[in-house]
Amino acid sequence: MKSHSSVPKFGIDVLDQGHERLFDLERRLLSFCGKGYDSCESCSADTQDECEKPFSALLEELLVVMWEHFRDEESLMIHLPPEPAQAHKYEHAEISKVFSSLMVQDPQTRFLQNRRELVKILGLWVHDHIERWDMPLARQIKRNTAELIQ
Ligand SMILES: [Fe+2]
Ligand SMILES: [Fe+2]
Repeated sequence: MKSHSSVPKFGIDVLDQGHERLFDLERRLLSFCGKGYDSCESCSADTQDECEKPFSALLEELLVVMWEHFRDEESLMIHLPPEPAQAHKYEHAEISKVFSSLMVQDPQTRFLQNRRELVKILGLWVHDHIERWDMPLARQIKRNTAELIQ
């Protein structure tokens, strides 16, 4: 697992701003439990109920910001050849599917109970996805833009 460090900067505003918003939400989710627990098992049912609403709201916000960011990013994929663009879009669709399925699970069993799982999933997509997929996209956009200027 990579450390949840600083937001990568590609020098492309749409990408950088989207990633900044996502990193900010990730930080808020990871620091949500004031008691610093990994899971909710140590807390009473009442405390868990109190946390449920604001935590779910934060997750929903993350989902919306993520969809908006995917949409913005995909509008830049005209810079890519069809195959890598399709593959990148497919990754977005897979991430969306995982997140959406987590959101609709039964409240008693859903992963909200397990913050370690949340960290794992967030880390996977926010960090690995940016490195594997967004970085080459940013590079290609810059290359194309530089060619246009010349
Ligand atoms: Fe992406
Ligand atoms: Fe991205």
